[in-house]
Amino acid sequence: MYNSIIRPLLFRIDPENVHDILFTGLSAYRHISPMRSFIKQNSKVCCPFMIKEMMLSSRVGLAAGFDKEAKAFDELSDFGFGFIEIGTVTPSPQSGNPKPRIFRLIKDESLISRTGFNNPGVDIVLERVKKHLNRSYRLGANINRDSTSTGQAIIDDFALVFNKLYDYVDYFTINWGSIEGADFERVLKTLTEIRKEKSSEKNIIIKLPADIQQDGLLSVIMMARKYQANGFIATGPTMDRSNLICLSKTESNKIGTGGVSGKGIGDKSKKIVQFLGENVKGEFIIIGAGGIMSVQDAVDMIKAGADLIQIYSAFIFDGPKIVEKMSKAIAK
Ligand SMILES: Cc1cc2nc3c(=O)[nH]c(=O)nc-3n(C[C@H](O)[C@H](O)[C@H](O)COP(=O)(O)O)c2cc1C
Repeated sequence: MYNSIIRPLLFRIDPENVHDILFTGLSAYRHISPMRSFIKQNSKVCCPFMIKEMMLSSRVGLAAGFDKEAKAFDELSDFGFGFIEIGTVTPSPQSGNPKPRIFRLIKDESLISRTGFNNPGVDIVLERVKKHLNRSYRLGANINRDSTSTGQAIIDDFALVFNKLYDYVDYFTINWGSIEGADFERVLKTLTEIRKEKSSEKNIIIKLPADIQQDGLLSVIMMARKYQANGFIATGPTMDRSNLICLSKTESNKIGTGGVSGKGIGDKSKKIVQFLGENVKGEFIIIGAGGIMSVQDAVDMIKAGADLIQIYSAFIFDGPKIVEKMSKAIAK
């Protein structure tokens, strides 16, 4: 039904407006208990998986950027996600880049986005997270600094968001490449030092860009070892548009800058997962993400070395049923 009726209707509307419609729908759905029970029952997967002190009901998660504002992660979990990553969350509210900033490439099954870190700020996110502490899924927070922060303020921003959310989420993600290398090292050092003072140990995951080169990978692995980070997400979007075979040069220029998500990532993420699988499997959690559009892609990512996978574009292009299908195929 999603592919034949819902998707053609939704795809006539601007992507960001569809997102708003979805979240309005989810806030109404929240109050319709019989419907919630029905959806939950129908999407239920029981494929338990334990990794680094985290018990997951499914190895499929929702990637950062879908619920940037932590508005509906609990409702989204009904579709069978084992884990959901909210954010990116920053200390203060951010409006992100000017609109339009999300572009849907239907024939290429891809998205181009340059949203920036638009979110309501950590205090509002915290209030929303506190409403759902009794969770059957794991909740991660992707965190970053305010766009205006520089120097020491960058480190302080990360520390502030980390401290505020620490007791209420299950893991944190920081994006390699979103800040300068030296600052990244200081951020990682600071967060792991703060963690030592806490009574529980939360996993810190490093999200890698799809275009990271081997020397970058080796240095991030060394840094992860040095400061005892716990895992990697491989990967975020790519800047390379060569896999967008249906997008003309003129259309591409018209869209302007932005990272490519979905099928257009090609096998970049899988190759990085493969490298991680060969070099750090068992030592770090490996979360495959980027370009996982089908059940076969999900299985292939696990075979390449991922412990878990995260999706974003597949949820949009294939609808909610894809979560259950991927979870079951991986469990087999
Ligand atoms: C519209 C949009 C917004 C995103 N926002 C974020 C974000 O705020 N933080 C982040 O780490 N990744 C963000 N991402 C990247 C996704 O989390 C994911 O890594 C990427 O889309 C690749 O996965 P996919 O091919 O399954 O879509 C965003 C992606 C899209 C399409």
